[in-house]
Amino acid sequence: MKNTYKAVEVSAPGVLRVVERQVSEPGAGQVRIRVEACGICHTDAATVTGTHPGLTLPRVPGHEVVGRIEALGSGVSRWKIGQRVGVGLIAGEDGVCEPCRRGDTVNCQNPVVSGVTADGGYAEVMIAEARAIASVPDELTSVEAAPLLCAGITTYNALRNAGLRGGDLVAVQGVGGLGHLGIQFARRMGFRTVAIGRGRDKEKLAKDLGAHEYIDAAAEDAAAALQQMGGARAILATGTSGAAMGPLVSGLAARGKLIVLGVPEDQVQLSAFPLVFGGRSIYGSLTGTPIDNEDALAFSVLENIRPMIETLPLEQAADAYARMIQGKARFRMVLVTKDGVAQGAPLN
Ligand SMILES: NC(=O)c1ccc[n+]([C@@H]2O[C@H](COP(=O)([O-])OP(=O)(O)OC[C@H]3O[C@@H](n4cnc5c(N)ncnc54)[C@H](OP(=O)(O)O)[C@@H]3O)[C@@H](O)[C@H]2O)c1
Ligand SMILES: [Zn+2]
Ligand SMILES: [Zn+2]
Repeated sequence: MKNTYKAVEVSAPGVLRVVERQVSEPGAGQVRIRVEACGICHTDAATVTGTHPGLTLPRVPGHEVVGRIEALGSGVSRWKIGQRVGVGLIAGEDGVCEPCRRGDTVNCQNPVVSGVTADGGYAEVMIAEARAIASVPDELTSVEAAPLLCAGITTYNALRNAGLRGGDLVAVQGVGGLGHLGIQFARRMGFRTVAIGRGRDKEKLAKDLGAHEYIDAAAEDAAAALQQMGGARAILATGTSGAAMGPLVSGLAARGKLIVLGVPEDQVQLSAFPLVFGGRSIYGSLTGTPIDNEDALAFSVLENIRPMIETLPLEQAADAYARMIQGKARFRMVLVTKDGVAQGAPLN
């Protein structure tokens, strides 16, 4: 086997370049994965622009990674060589901080973060913490599974942890990588599902994905439209604009929840009135744990949920990333390695 592999690294802010790296052995508690597919999440922008706190360059981005285990570090017994696995964003808790000691490992204060503290999946090979990987079911191809490991789990977990009941009105703001999966999860979990986008061009796609209703936030006041429908029990805010999030609180029913998933650069401004009068709330939600990822994958198989993707070869990562940033992806760009192609992954 070749002892080098191709990776796409951020060598300087804004520069994604293809490099050749030495294959290294996984350390204790780690596995080495031969990557087949990696989705491009909007969060990768924090690595590509070099703005993520604590980031040092060069760094390989990517945290929607699917591949096969090809080497086990010492002490790894749960996983087998050849097994197909996935890696998400929060890729290894320290186990000793206060949230970890309370069992809240996704909020670890010192986690391994794929593509930020450790090299991620824009590569033919990735070293991952064995405690952070998820098993990928046979029913999903690698390119289908990849976006579920961040965009999927993030919307799936936010919905299933929101204390909702069947038939509740749930809105998904933003029809992008996260949003198009959030719409599918909300519909399949049994909620009256409303998609909120900008313009009419995504309306049909949103309805095809399962939205019962579509609100064009460019043409009408989204909060008023939600109130006309009775008010949302929950809104998943997946957009990249803080200015667009705050006013949504007024679209919630009494005790409704605005769940912030997007991480905009601008501030979220809030009026206290709808929060206080009606007991509404706003909080954030961060991806999930490896076992949550297995749940998200299993639910996707169960309910036939699949990401809508565009695939490109790993070497074209810069083009794929640009398409995502420009909002042109429908709806997730997925990078495919030569091993992914060998396993049958499509390229378009
Ligand atoms: N919480 C978490 O754990 C987590 C996990 C993954 C990603 N994220 C964050 O979630 C956000 C979305 O990620 P993604 O991968 O889905 O991104 P994406 O595929 O690039 O989609 C961007 C979304 O932002 C919306 N948007 C852009 N500009 C907007 C504006 N001015 N007003 C309202 N909406 C606007 C777009 O809405 P339209 O449909 O209207 O065009 C689109 O739905 C990012 O901030 C990312 O960092 C968070
Ligand atoms: Zn992500
Ligand atoms: Zn911790």
